[in-house]
Amino acid sequence: MQETMEKTQAMVRHLEAVNRILEKYGYNESKLIPILQEVQAEYNYLSKDIISYVATSIGVPPSQVYGVATFYAHFSLEPKGKHIFRLCDGTACHVKKSHSILEALYAKLGLSQEKSTTDDMMFTVETVSCLGACGLAPVMVVDEDVYGQITPEKAIAVVDEIIAAEKNTGK
Ligand code: FES
Repeated sequence: MQETMEKTQAMVRHLEAVNRILEKYGYNESKLIPILQEVQAEYNYLSKDIISYVATSIGVPPSQVYGVATFYAHFSLEPKGKHIFRLCDGTACHVKKSHSILEALYAKLGLSQEKSTTDDMMFTVETVSCLGACGLAPVMVVDEDVYGQITPEKAIAVVDEIIAAEKNTGK
């Protein structure tokens, strides 16, 4: 009984942010994309439960919300790490050896093309197409910060800085 109560309370807390976002957009079906964008920004990804909840709340079938979520590459249906490294794989960055940076990050974090998120859910590494900053190639975006003319060494230094900062906040 106690366990069920705790689970329900956790679920309500979990959905608080979704409710706030749905309310902001007036539960309006035509605002589905901005709703999903904000929900993803809050939770880092769109879980099955949240997709169903959003669909029911705005009165559309879950398949419709899935359709939108899978159509746009921007949306993720998989959980992502707290810190997201996005490495540009556009032509200009590719020519400037963005691949060596990707390999260095994979090696540092034990990741690969098949496994993009660390087990502790701290880091996700992914590639993206041209970020529109080719003059700075190769380009990497970490969370909200843009790094131009990045090298494997600089990329690893960014990982180390984040690990150190996380240790300090954990104290
Ligand atoms: S190709 Fe990387 S920013 Fe354009």
